[in-house]
Amino acid sequence: VGHIDDVQELRKCKPTVIPERFVRDMTERPVTACSAQDVPVINISKLGDGEKEISRLADACENWGFFQVVDHGIDFDLLERIEKVGMEFFMLPVEEKQRYAMAPGTVQGYGQAFVFSEDQKLDWCNMFALGLEPRYIRNPKLWPRRPAHFSETVETYSTEIRKLCANLLKYIAMSLGLKGNVFQEMFGSAVQAVRMNYYPPCPRPDLVLGLSPHSDGSAITVLQQGKGNSVGLQIFKDDKWVPVLPLPNALVINIGDTLEKTGGQCPRLHFEKLFSLIKSVLTNGKYKSVEHRAVTHEDKDRLSIVTFYAPSYEVELGPMAELVDENNPCKYKRYNHGEYNKHYITNKLEGKKTLEFAKIRPE
Ligand code: SIN
Ligand code: FE2
Repeated sequence: VGHIDDVQELRKCKPTVIPERFVRDMTERPVTACSAQDVPVINISKLGDGEKEISRLADACENWGFFQVVDHGIDFDLLERIEKVGMEFFMLPVEEKQRYAMAPGTVQGYGQAFVFSEDQKLDWCNMFALGLEPRYIRNPKLWPRRPAHFSETVETYSTEIRKLCANLLKYIAMSLGLKGNVFQEMFGSAVQAVRMNYYPPCPRPDLVLGLSPHSDGSAITVLQQGKGNSVGLQIFKDDKWVPVLPLPNALVINIGDTLEKTGGQCPRLHFEKLFSLIKSVLTNGKYKSVEHRAVTHEDKDRLSIVTFYAPSYEVELGPMAELVDENNPCKYKRYNHGEYNKHYITNKLEGKKTLEFAKIRPE
């Protein structure tokens, strides 16, 4: 008995043939279809200055669903420290990491989440995830004792990222022509979780995926790409997979399903007044929870640190009344976010599966 599905262990055996469980069907293989494009870069410190940066934010949410943020106020040293302890954790012996093994059907701990059947393809990735807020979602048994400073670094990092999320949601609300506090009030005590994804090098990156295509169930996600690691994140834009080049010390933000839904209707009139410049885009539009995936590299590994920020599980959510009228009928059911989350984590990662489930279907 080995740790047959653990990609780091697998790689140590120097396989010449990739095990079948990792080999994707032809249609899913990551052929590089497109050169890298620069996703929009938003300067957080300028968002308070007025409409210009906010309309750039609106444009990023509309047309990309992804953007990078700079001047975010988080210490670069802290970004380096979280990366360091993350890397050190994945380099521990597998037996030690297994002490924090993810129980089947759950998403916290070490292992691979979203695996539900024997014939499901596996991702070329090891994950380690922790629930952070509200406190009751924490499982203290899963907080690693090694490497030194792991837990305190996660704690400090998460506090900073939580502030960033709250701040971003304020400006995202404003970019929709809404009051800055609407999401904060709607979300209650927001759920926050962190997941580290470690992708070892893969001898055949053309055959496997680091992470299956999916959209996030969160409201927003903050993604830190490891410094000096290979390019791995790709987003599905205009029917192509577009690589996202890491920008040093920037953070990647993406809109999750929850925002597509609540903020996902066509804009109201006063929105158009505010941003008449980009009106033509907005009238068609919504803030998108964009599908993304990760690919692997032949001789480089990669770490990503991902924070999910979502409404309290108790909150019932649906499209905001302000964003629905006779021309823009309600597209999504109202539901409890806890149930949405349960649906999300108990099914394999696959495109926008959970959002589809929440859609109102015409009779
Ligand atoms: C994710 O979507 O959770 C991570 C993608 C990445 O590793 O860049
Ligand atoms: Fe994701």
